[in-house]
Amino acid sequence: MLRLAEVNAWYGLHHILYDISLELNPGEILALLGRNGAGKTTTLRTIMGLVDRREGAIELDGQSLLGLRASAVSRRGIAYVPEYRGIFSDLSVRENLAIAAWREGGWTIEQVLELFPAVKELLDRKGRQLSGGEQQMLAIGRALLSAPRYMLLDEPSQGLAPIIVDKVMDTLHHLRGRDLGILLVEQNAEVALDSADRVCIIEQGGIVFQGTPLELRDRPGILSTYLSVG
Ligand SMILES: Nc1ncnc2c1ncn2[C@@H]1O[C@H](COP(=O)(O)OP(=O)(O)OP(=O)(O)O)[C@@H](O)[C@H]1O
Ligand SMILES: [Mg+2]
Repeated sequence: MLRLAEVNAWYGLHHILYDISLELNPGEILALLGRNGAGKTTTLRTIMGLVDRREGAIELDGQSLLGLRASAVSRRGIAYVPEYRGIFSDLSVRENLAIAAWREGGWTIEQVLELFPAVKELLDRKGRQLSGGEQQMLAIGRALLSAPRYMLLDEPSQGLAPIIVDKVMDTLHHLRGRDLGILLVEQNAEVALDSADRVCIIEQGGIVFQGTPLELRDRPGILSTYLSVG
């Protein structure tokens, strides 16, 4: 289990996260929702060790991740797919896959291409020639090569046509079925509520709601207050 308890985080002197507590299990999708600037990306970066200062407990199966660099956090089994997907635009798809942090016990490139047959057709294309959806699939594929047990995804639906969003979500469901734990940051509440097992809402750096999508739909006031929907 990936567990955060009363986590605080800072960029320089700016205190951004306040007492964030959440838990993510294998085979589960936890959606993290919130408005612009609420602290969603910072939460993912804090788990990876990419903020200037963090306090509180961040544990993977009871072992603390505090004090580890991002590369070490990744080696422990947490993959981070950032908002702009981290694809090398000048490298081909084949090269983007080849240089990903491949690890024993992770997926092979062949397995990734089985998961994303569309990517197989694009192996000689440069990163910059891919559509947003193709980039997202490549980014998830690269992350899988590092043998993750948990994946942190920052707004994977951003800028994608609805039909492509559905494809990405189908992939996440498939990965959940293979016991991956997924922390899914979304601005698109509908997409998240359709897919997630549990939902957290963050506002001004603090968690203001945790529950199931059903519980959240029962409380339209929360959706309208914190997400401007419903
Ligand atoms: N490098 C940084 N230095 C200082 N403050 C930052 C930095 N990055 C983000 N912040 C601030 O931290 C707060 C949370 O930002 P964050 O990027 O985590 O929000 P977010 O929920 O991901 O928003 P968005 O939906 O726009 O992606 C914001 O007030 C932002 O201005
Ligand atoms: Mg963000």
